[in-house]
Amino acid sequence: MTNTRVTLASRPNGMIKPTDFKIVQEDLPELKDGEVLVKQVYMSLDPAMRGWLDEDEGSYMPPVRIGETMRSFGIGIVEASNNSAFTVGTRVNGMFGWSEHYITTGEDLVPLPEDVPLEHFMGLLGLPGATAYHGFMELIDTPKAGETVLISGAAGSVGSLVGQIAKAEGLKVIGVTGSDEKKEWLLNELGFDAVINYKTENLEEMVAKYAPDGIDRHFENVGGKVLEVALDNMKIGGKITLCGLISTYNDTEPSVGPHLVRAIARRLTLKGLVIIDQQHRFGEIFEKLSAYAQKGQIKYRLDIEEGLKQAPEAINKLFDGTNQGKLVIRI
Ligand SMILES: NC(=O)c1ccc[n+]([C@@H]2O[C@H](COP(=O)([O-])OP(=O)(O)OC[C@H]3O[C@@H](n4cnc5c(N)ncnc54)[C@H](OP(=O)(O)O)[C@@H]3O)[C@@H](O)[C@H]2O)c1
Repeated sequence: MTNTRVTLASRPNGMIKPTDFKIVQEDLPELKDGEVLVKQVYMSLDPAMRGWLDEDEGSYMPPVRIGETMRSFGIGIVEASNNSAFTVGTRVNGMFGWSEHYITTGEDLVPLPEDVPLEHFMGLLGLPGATAYHGFMELIDTPKAGETVLISGAAGSVGSLVGQIAKAEGLKVIGVTGSDEKKEWLLNELGFDAVINYKTENLEEMVAKYAPDGIDRHFENVGGKVLEVALDNMKIGGKITLCGLISTYNDTEPSVGPHLVRAIARRLTLKGLVIIDQQHRFGEIFEKLSAYAQKGQIKYRLDIEEGLKQAPEAINKLFDGTNQGKLVIRI
């Protein structure tokens, strides 16, 4: 059987170019005793991948090496099995990489329930859901009804869930996003209290207008200017979840900011998040997320690109903001 996979050909300098990857076609080997063949169905494209392409040995994961299959998380179905723990047809998730098929002895596969649409495991019941719930509800302390939260990257796969969880918990929710279409969706479909288009509106003025008494919590997905404005508007004792800094991921020089003097004066708590640390708790977190969904408090959208070969081009939608919801490849 022939398999297609995508390997790293060169490290990008700035934005990713499709030529940084190579498409490889090869025959799959025969399955050995104990091995499982997974056919990947949905493959996640994530901002974190940009970091994995840099030669940074000090990060939370080693870089992808030149010539290796590009790393990614995915959902698949067992297509053939020489392992009694996995019958053909079982739905599984794992780090399959940019590859149509994946062969494993099974230790790294997580079986998935049958009664949930497969694509839910890409979003609400996947890494974005876990990131949003843990990062907002657990990482620092439990948010309280009546508090005000500012969310950057608010229309993204993580940010849109943070906002809806916060609404369900009775907070005032202010989102920051980069298009009027996303702004309308957050206001009219997801029920955010206020949304700022950072490309066309004055962030400082709008945050001051929508949070005249200051911000209790900030959920940071973007960094740069929005983090500066958040720091300027935090209440004393305010809390900041540092989830991502996507505005800096394609920088070719390390960025300078932000100015942290406000963090001292306002006695702020800033805490970084790496969601894979919580993998052992995903079942518990997904039960909590399912409870919101059952009450109709969560909406979610996927941006689906067709075919593995689209991945090298499609990943840039995350960095130019043209993705509308969780970006995935259907294989
Ligand atoms: N810490 C963790 O464990 C963890 C786990 C998952 C994700 N994350 C982080 O969470 C953040 C969101 O991830 P996601 O998967 O939900 O992606 P996403 O928000 O669905 O997509 C990325 C969005 O970021 C915005 N963006 C891109 N470049 C920007 C720039 N230069 N300035 C301002 N906004 C920019 C764009 O939205 P606009 O159109 O609104 O500009 C784009 O649509 C990322 O920083 C990611 O690294 C962290």
